[in-house]
Amino acid sequence: MNKNALPIGVFDSGLGGLTAFAELKRIMPGENIIYFGDNARIPYGTKSPALIKKYALQDTRFLTSVGVKAILVACGTVSSNCLPDVGAESGLPVTGVIKSPASIAAKIAAKGKGTVAVLGTTATVRSGAFQRELETLGVKNVIARACPMFVPLAESWHPSADDAAANAIAREYLSDVALKQPDAVILGCTHYPLLSDVIKKFFPGSALISSGRESAYEMRDVIVSLGLENRGGGEYGFYTSDDADLFKRSAAAFLGDEITGEVKKIDIEKF
Ligand code: DGL
Repeated sequence: MNKNALPIGVFDSGLGGLTAFAELKRIMPGENIIYFGDNARIPYGTKSPALIKKYALQDTRFLTSVGVKAILVACGTVSSNCLPDVGAESGLPVTGVIKSPASIAAKIAAKGKGTVAVLGTTATVRSGAFQRELETLGVKNVIARACPMFVPLAESWHPSADDAAANAIAREYLSDVALKQPDAVILGCTHYPLLSDVIKKFFPGSALISSGRESAYEMRDVIVSLGLENRGGGEYGFYTSDDADLFKRSAAAFLGDEITGEVKKIDIEKF
């Protein structure tokens, strides 16, 4: 089979990585894409680095068993804790959700006060990966804040800007970060864009950067630079470790649109 026609594999602990999938599909319409959401084992962000790595390697082995030409790790937690392990396990080009958003944030900060806030899961913030990347890019002040309750909120419903529960939780996490008026706020967990109406209220003057959305551009650069582009594809397949119908319904609510392509349930523990 022509290697270029193989799909790009995208995975996340759940639905959040669909933010990356949607943008990849938009900017690379000729690509076939396979998405895996580990909905049965979400959240990853509260787990230990060892367990996150175990899950990430199983997700990787599943995607390589289907046959993919590259992997986009559409999960901030995996990207920041064990991205090189996914590369070593798969032997494929692998990109995550850190580099592209960090480089955009650094450019914005360079023209402003030099302050960037990173919101992510507990494991993402603890890893220090976003902080190191931003510091390497010359950002003077980096504020990182773990917002673990945002993941179940985003998976369960799409809160409106005035949702009382979402606002109470956001106030707890974000009030003091908001006082620093960062130039840019990286939504370092791919689930957080679903809460952007709520988060934006705390940062009216800041650029909100979706790590999932921006990660699609790094994958595009890699695919183009390796000459792996496909034309005339546009077929999509979805896999979940939980119920397929539930995934389909939740994904439609998450994306605000029906997903086109078959959804299958797999037993991730077999990989
Ligand atoms: N989308 C994942 C991330 O970006 C969700 C985190 C989780 O599973 O806790 O980190």
